[in-house]
This record gives sequence, structure tokens and C-alpha cells, in this order.
Amino acid sequence: MYIENISVKNFRNLDTMSIKFNKSVNIFFGKNAQGKTNIIEAVYMCATGRSHRTHSDKDMIMFGMDSAMVQTFINKNDYKDRVNIHLKKNSKKGVAVNSLPIKSLSELFGVLHIVIFSPEDLELVKKGPSERRRFIDMELCQLSKIYCYNLQQYWKILKQRNNLLKQVQKNNSLKDTIFVWDNQLVDFGRKLIKEREKFTVRIDELTKNIHLKLTGNAEKMKIEYKPSVSADEFEEKLNKNIDRDIYFGSTSYGPHKDDLAFFINDTNVREFGSQGQQRCTAVSLKLAEIKLIEEEKGSEPVLLLDDVFSELDKNRQKYLIECISDIQTIITCTGIEDSLKELSQKAAIYKVENGKVYPNL
Ligand SMILES: Nc1ncnc2c1ncn2[C@@H]1O[C@H](COP(=O)(O)OP(=O)(O)OP(=O)(O)O)[C@@H](O)[C@H]1O
Ligand SMILES: [Mg+2]
Repeated sequence: MYIENISVKNFRNLDTMSIKFNKSVNIFFGKNAQGKTNIIEAVYMCATGRSHRTHSDKDMIMFGMDSAMVQTFINKNDYKDRVNIHLKKNSKKGVAVNSLPIKSLSELFGVLHIVIFSPEDLELVKKGPSERRRFIDMELCQLSKIYCYNLQQYWKILKQRNNLLKQVQKNNSLKDTIFVWDNQLVDFGRKLIKEREKFTVRIDELTKNIHLKLTGNAEKMKIEYKPSVSADEFEEKLNKNIDRDIYFGSTSYGPHKDDLAFFINDTNVREFGSQGQQRCTAVSLKLAEIKLIEEEKGSEPVLLLDDVFSELDKNRQKYLIECISDIQTIITCTGIEDSLKELSQKAAIYKVENGKVYPNL
């Protein structure tokens, strides 16, 4: 799978732009604030229907404009898929695959597989649990439409339950109706927990090997799933904590509180690892993500590397380059450093300046 081209109109600071991508490496270089990450964001939108850096779709419409468009063609060897996104200032966005509008974003997942790697991802181990949940969900949604549907349902029900908890604070007679949401929450929640358990076992296997290579066999890495509650105990926990939940107006147990823990040679990396070890753990995780998609989907994802090379030391840069040699990669950077020069022979190189993209001839 690779992206043939992308066209955008009024997307952030990119007014009208069309890029034909190279099948292997594409490097976008330019000074700060020129529009490099905006290109990555446009590609990300076509894979997930969302931005990786804002919850507000309207933020992506060029200042002063009423709408923005993104279109991409994805080559799948024997056929092509087209994704169109239309962002509107005064109404909901429209997403279409091969001209057919989709009702739920879960229908978009799987059309274009991507793995994104940005400087924030290097902080994944150090950051709060919500980032790690986002990582799991993003990956699992790409692998399974059913997971994506279950996740959407879970969030919808959780929101309704939390609203009801707040109403019960004022009107206790509504307390008896909470169980209606609890049954559904447990139903969808259990499915998420089970899928996340399986996912962690798989990603742990893959990461182990990559991390050994990345550290010259020095570090044995392990990933553990830390559910807020097990699938079997979920219902009981909700019942036991009902008064507490009413008091706080929010649900204290469930997959929305899960976490992942990372270990190197049996020591928790988040608590005791050096910054270098934490970052190296994140690199291994990202590379494992690529492998997992390849294995599960039978085709390699597109890799988006936003400003990440300069953040890595020489050894890791070298290893990353080796790993990306056979998948389509879109790289942004402020300058083409030595490590990238090796890649640049087979790469398409573009300069990004003030929202415009120029081939670097
Ligand atoms: N909705 C918008 N309309 C117009 N311009 C926008 C909009 N949102 C952001 N921008 C502009 O886009 C530019 C930032 O683009 P981007 O984040 O892609 O920069 P970059 O080239 O990746 O820079 P860096 O190297 O610092 O990461 C900024 O100048 C910002 O003001
Ligand atoms: Mg940027």
C-alpha cells in the first residue's frame, strides 16, 4: 500500500497544493512554521478522519475561509482507493471513500494504514496514561473495524452514564436507572479489555526482538497491560463504587482508565529509566507497530516521521533508516542531515516554504 498523491485546498496554511508521492521515501524540508507538519496532518486525516494534534476540525480550515478539502489516492497494487475529506466551518465534516460518504469514522479505518512518529511520541513512555491508551486505540482501530465500533459505543455510553451520575446528584430517584447504562458499559468494556490484552501480548513479542537489536542485545524489554479492572470484575466494581461515582459525577473504573507499563531488564522504564531508555523504548514500540500491521494486514503501512530524526542519536537514526528502507515514508525535517543523505538518493525531496511545496531539483 502506498499513497500516490495528495491534494489539499485551504488546509491550514496550504492554500492549493498537490503532491505526487514517491513510492519509497519523501522528504519535506523547510524552516520552522512553513507547513511541514500540516502536510503530515493532512495525510493523517485521510487515514483516521481526525487530526493528530487537535480535537477541533475547524482549526484546520485556513484562517478566514469557510471550508477545506483533502483528497488522496491510495495504491493497493491491483486497485486504488480515493479518500475525500471536506471540512466545513458551519457544519460537520464530510468523509467519502471512493465517492461514497461514510457515516462512521470506523468505516474509514483500514483504507490507509499509517504509523506516525513525532517528537511527542518519543515521550510516550513518560507521558500520562491517556497517551498510551490513544496509542493502543489508534493501532487496534486500524487493525479491526469491530474494535473501533466497540470503542465508539463504549465512549458514547460512558458519556451518558456520567451525565446521569450528575443528574442523580440532584435527583436521587434516578439512581435506579443507572444499571441500564451499566449493562451496556460492561458489555462493550469487556470486549475492549479482551482485545487490549491480546494486543499487548502481540506487541510485546514484536518489541522484544526489535529492542534487543536496537540496544545490541543489552536490554530485554517487556510491555504489560495494566487494566483498570479485569473483564470479569468490571460489573462488580461498577456496582461497588456506585456511590463514589455519583459523588464525583464520573465513572472510576473501566477501560477509559487503562494503562501500559514498560520494563527494561525488569525495571519500570517510566519510573526508573533514563531519558535515552525511555525514548529508545518508544522507538522500539513504533517499529513494532509497523511490523504488526504488516503481519496482520499483509501489507505495509505508510510511515510518517515528523521531525523525529534530529531527536535521535546516530545509532538509532541508522537503525530507523534500515527499518524503513522498504516502506513508503514521509519525512519532515528542518535540514537534510548526514544520516538522511543516505536515504536522499532514492527519495523525492521537496522544500516547504510559506505554505507552498517546491520540488528540490
Ligand atoms: N488554520 C490555519 N490557517 C492558516 N494558517 C495556519 C492555520 N493553522 C496553523 N497555521 C499556520 O501554519 C504554520 C505551521 O505549520 P506547521 O506546523 O506545518 O509548521 P512546520 O513547518 O511543521 O514547522 P516546525 O518546523 O516548527 O514544526 C504556522 O505558521 C501557523 O500559523
Ligand atoms: Mg512541524
